[in-house]
Amino acid sequence: MSAGTEQVISGLEGVLAGESSVTFLDGLADPSVLEYRGYNIHDIAETTSFEEVAFLVIEGHLPNKAELAAFDQELKAARAIPPQVIDTIRALPKGIHPMAAFRTAVSVLACYDPQQEDNSKEANRAKAGRMTAQFATIVAAQHRINEGKPVVEPDPSLGHAANFLYMLNGERGDDLWVRTLETTMNLYAEHEANASTFAVRVVVGTNSDLHSAIVAGIGALKGPAHGGAADDSIALIQDIGNVENVKPWVDQAFAERRLIPGFGHRVYKTGDARTPHLRNMCRALAEHSATKDSSWVDIALATEDYIRSMKRLVANVDLYAAAALYYLDFPLNLFTNFVAAARIVGWSANAIEQFEKNRIIRPRMKYVGERARTFVPLEQRG
Ligand SMILES: CC(C)(COP(=O)(O)OP(=O)(O)OC[C@H]1O[C@@H](n2cnc3c(N)ncnc32)[C@H](O)[C@@H]1OP(=O)(O)O)[C@@H](O)C(=O)NCCC(=O)NCCS
Repeated sequence: MSAGTEQVISGLEGVLAGESSVTFLDGLADPSVLEYRGYNIHDIAETTSFEEVAFLVIEGHLPNKAELAAFDQELKAARAIPPQVIDTIRALPKGIHPMAAFRTAVSVLACYDPQQEDNSKEANRAKAGRMTAQFATIVAAQHRINEGKPVVEPDPSLGHAANFLYMLNGERGDDLWVRTLETTMNLYAEHEANASTFAVRVVVGTNSDLHSAIVAGIGALKGPAHGGAADDSIALIQDIGNVENVKPWVDQAFAERRLIPGFGHRVYKTGDARTPHLRNMCRALAEHSATKDSSWVDIALATEDYIRSMKRLVANVDLYAAAALYYLDFPLNLFTNFVAAARIVGWSANAIEQFEKNRIIRPRMKYVGERARTFVPLEQRG
């Protein structure tokens, strides 16, 4: 094919950009299928610990008891973050985007990693474990600093999800809260060639280092078409306000051709494989909560039902995760940061795979501008 005649695939939709053994995803099957390393998400989301899921995704197999215990210790030993990272979060201007602060904190974290520039498989695996542990600590520190409260040291007697809640609130969460947070993290842990993971692979493709690749992923996740939709899903529920307002609100949004956060997906056309778990858990959480507004889950359900009845769009994971985090009293301004604290697992697994069989990712653009223009020297231009 000669230059200029190649077909452009808008948004790289449907393009297979490489081979992977991390995640199988079929969003056209009904019901849709999501498997981490060959295990169906429905078999692991609600029953396994985040540590088990992280080990599975990063190492490629389910851990036995000894492997899980060793991984648990590895994460616990890595939870603390350098004081310079905390100082940086404190020094940033008030009111900057929480994901901009997080991205900066991870850049600083990289500077203190003992294997920052080591791209060996062993070093990348060790860095993956460290970042998996440290990201939750950064998010919790952001929250405490935002609130003007002292940063809470990790508690080594707690598992990852329970400790995350503890570092956020300074007190232990009850079992339902911990289980819900853990399930939500399991569901966000990995998702094939999504935009941020692809950004990670592009950076790895240049043989840059793992932290640089992850920082690129964080930048991609921040966007409202991707992880930023998590924050917008909260605004959606708040803006709709009550169940009676669902139909007029949605009708108006469609009439104005506005994008509705928490709906639509590039690969899921029959339903997001992750939503059923959170939908069920939200209901339980709403009933369990004495202080939170039970209508959040009702609004999410009614909006999904109405949009589905119009045969328009599927509800994606962010819609019910927004409601779940609200019931968990999770700081809602840090929702996308929370997604990053889970997705570090998938980013790492994909990066390690990319490093193993690496080739620079360098596509082409179809040039549609003017050509062969006559150069006019500056002094002759009007
Ligand atoms: C996820 C998303 C980026 C996928 O984008 P995409 O694959 O390029 O989807 P398309 O633009 O091809 O969508 C097809 C049609 O549905 C519409 N559509 C897609 N998502 C929509 C949404 N959330 N609200 C309203 N309409 C939507 C598009 O406008 C398009 O309409 P058109 O054919 O009349 O132009 C998009 O659905 C979106 O922005 N959703 C909201 C943000 C979100 O929740 N993101 C998190 C995903 S986990």
